[in-house]
Amino acid sequence: MIIPLPSDREQSFWIYIEPNHVYLFYLLLLVCCSEELRTSSKRTTLQNSIRRLTSSTVLLPAFVAVFAAGGLLPLSVLGANVANADKAEIITVIGIYTHAWFLSFALGLPPIVLALEFLGIRRRNPDYMKAAERTSRIWGISFAAGAATGTLVEFGLVQIWSGSLIVLGTFFFAPLFIEVFAFMLELVLLVLYLFTWSTYRYTWKHWMFGLFIAVGSIWSAYQILAANAWMNIPWGTGDLVSKVLPWVPTLGPNVTNSTAMIQVLNFLPSNGSAVIGNLNAMQSIGQILTNPLIAFSNPEAVPLFLHTVTASIATIGFLASMFLSVEYFRNRGKREYYAKFLKVTFGIAAVASLIQPLFGDMEGRLEYTYMYTKFLALEGIPPQGGTNPILGLLLFNNPNYFFQGFDYLRTLVGSSISPGLASYTIDFAQQNQPWLTAFFLVMVVSSIIMFIFSIVYFGLYSKKLNRLVRLVFRRDTQDVLFASSLVLPFLAILASVFGWVAREMGRHPWSIYGLITYNEIVTPVNLTWSYITLIAFIELLLGVGGTVAMYISFQWKASDENLLPEKSQDAQQLVKN
Ligand code: HEM
Repeated sequence: MIIPLPSDREQSFWIYIEPNHVYLFYLLLLVCCSEELRTSSKRTTLQNSIRRLTSSTVLLPAFVAVFAAGGLLPLSVLGANVANADKAEIITVIGIYTHAWFLSFALGLPPIVLALEFLGIRRRNPDYMKAAERTSRIWGISFAAGAATGTLVEFGLVQIWSGSLIVLGTFFFAPLFIEVFAFMLELVLLVLYLFTWSTYRYTWKHWMFGLFIAVGSIWSAYQILAANAWMNIPWGTGDLVSKVLPWVPTLGPNVTNSTAMIQVLNFLPSNGSAVIGNLNAMQSIGQILTNPLIAFSNPEAVPLFLHTVTASIATIGFLASMFLSVEYFRNRGKREYYAKFLKVTFGIAAVASLIQPLFGDMEGRLEYTYMYTKFLALEGIPPQGGTNPILGLLLFNNPNYFFQGFDYLRTLVGSSISPGLASYTIDFAQQNQPWLTAFFLVMVVSSIIMFIFSIVYFGLYSKKLNRLVRLVFRRDTQDVLFASSLVLPFLAILASVFGWVAREMGRHPWSIYGLITYNEIVTPVNLTWSYITLIAFIELLLGVGGTVAMYISFQWKASDENLLPEKSQDAQQLVKN
């Protein structure tokens, strides 16, 4: 039996000026990066870069601008705790991006390391083996830093967003519980992989350790992304969401105990996450979910996973190519040496970039069906609606297809059981449309450029294509690839960062689209500015520290000698045993 949500969901609302820090934070990062680029000399060192960035003259004014501009942003009509939620969002954004930075390496490095080791074993070539071993150290550190920052983020969920315990214990129970086993697989095999390079040199056994770590990373990523997909499309809640947001279709079968679910939705707006600490309230709510595996049936789980993993592989592949490129242009005598590694790193990034738009298209179709407000905002459809030949062709095979705009959605608000929230969702998407469209465009334009240079890559293997590349760029394919490697990683990073901003901002103010707003699950404990500053500082420190550690581990040459001569007697003995 479905009990309608009471209209008192809106009774405790007040008007609040919302400083939306999420995209302003990115603005700040952009300003800092452009300042860094502007002042960089040709041969800048890592230390110099960090020093310049921290002493940047724009840093302070940019911070002031962020918080001043926050006050100018749209008025929000939400429930209690908005101020706390806005503060919590700052440390969450910094924490998640620090985590994502390391995870990109943990997901993007395995194909490179495994390909290098594969070539090393097949050709019995110490150059490939050395390169694989050195790169695997970055993989190891990125995994450790990813695990540490992941714990930070998970604590953040439980402590800062304490209301999310309700979803952690229900819809996220299976994905996050199963993720622990993937984590164990990665952890155990990673130690084995990193410390047995000289013992199992040139053996498939060692390569298999690496392969299973990669399986663990992919498995882990899928579990986490299935949970994130559920926050965008709360699959398994039937028509609960459409009661609040009438443009959303039925989201699969309703596998919730509707009475309990509605109790939660009643309690949260007035009590916030304090409801979790109230034993009586939780006892009276009872069991919420009847199918704990429902998160895996979410239609977005697989496309989100594919789009995110290919983004990491492309980003790290191009980043590795950039490092090779710097060496290539510095050491003219060793150009062929670096070129053979570029074939691997650029090749992997190229394959990922060529298939990436396909998964992006899958994401776009899901938005159209399930998150129409986000679709309108990202694609820049005018409020009164309009045509978009590319979208029309892609979605309906009709370039003149008319897409309804925000004005049409407003006509549906009357049928919502919570018209205030339905209107706010439309207003937010419409007011932020210019930003969201810009972020989306940056992602798509970056993708097109990456796509073009990925095709150029195959000029290394096709004479015809090589001739065409020479005609267009007046340079040999190899030189074009090395030169483009100095730019492509930045485009891939921009696309990934803006992709996530668009995704998360596009869902605002919902934490779970159409069910739970972000202020409803934030901790009732007052988050002070000094606390926020301290946590943000620690998060940034972890990010910088982990990155410096990856850099040092790659530079460290001590164990290279083990790989140059043929197997030592000890090692041979061990392998025989
Ligand atoms: C034509 C190419 C592309 C299209 C059509 C596309 C489409 C999309 C869409 C629609 C979303 C939002 C999904 C949502 O929130 O519902 C998204 C997010 C995202 N995009 Fe793209 N994208 C493209 C290229 C890229 C590239 C090249 C990268 C990075 C190398 C990238 C990285 C991301 C990331 C990290 C996200 C957030 C996670 C996700 O929703 O998958 N995208 N993309």
